[in-house]
Amino acid sequence: MIGDNLILLDKVDSTNNYIKKHWNELPSETVVWALEQTEGYGRKNSRWYSPLGGLWFSVLFKPRKRPLIPYYYLRMYSLVIYNVLKKKYKLNPVIKWPNDILINSKKVCGILGESVYNGGSPGCVIVGVGINVNNELPEEVSNSSIALKDLVGKEIALRKLLNELNHVAYHSYYLKYFKPKAISAITKLWLNHLNVKIGDRVQVSTENDGTLYGKVNDIQSDYLEIIDDNGEIKKLNSGELIVL
Ligand code: BTN
Repeated sequence: MIGDNLILLDKVDSTNNYIKKHWNELPSETVVWALEQTEGYGRKNSRWYSPLGGLWFSVLFKPRKRPLIPYYYLRMYSLVIYNVLKKKYKLNPVIKWPNDILINSKKVCGILGESVYNGGSPGCVIVGVGINVNNELPEEVSNSSIALKDLVGKEIALRKLLNELNHVAYHSYYLKYFKPKAISAITKLWLNHLNVKIGDRVQVSTENDGTLYGKVNDIQSDYLEIIDDNGEIKKLNSGELIVL
């Protein structure tokens, strides 16, 4: 089961980096959990602030028989976190494309997928999960992020939350859907839970193209395809998205 092999570290640069260094000698479904990360990072190499009190962990997948495509594992974890926060903690999360979890429009969780190549083929997938739980948030993100303790009004036991997440991941998703014929259902579930749907009218603030308005034509984990108001097709892989 996911987390049967659990490595708990007081402090590490990054749990994703730890797995990148040791993936060859660790069994599949190993969980590396750090109480503190000194160089936690997110998508596009952004800094991920990871002090004591948050839940920072990474999971190694190198299955022999199951599909090894990073975005399926990312989608599984966003669905897992969505469901656990909703059902067990009675919160009202949304999955913001591609895999952020927001509550009251503020980010509580980020997920980062990476793979390591072995020759020409992927050797493993690493899913890194960062959840603001009991930690304080630095000034610069306090407008856009929130910690679970401030939503539920009390501190949450980190080990219990970690176990709940990995239990649900394993029993409700990994065993059920990670088979060649069933895996596409993960994408359907993710699309059903996303805050944006094909056909939605959206506003996206991009770094290079300014603010775009248009209709969503396709949704992939690494880009959104939009037909803008001039009829042009734009593929966007980043940007602040608002559904109008
Ligand atoms: C993002 O929203 O950009 C993804 C953030 C992912 C952060 C987690 S914390 C555990 C793991 N170790 C890291 O260095 N990053 C991920």
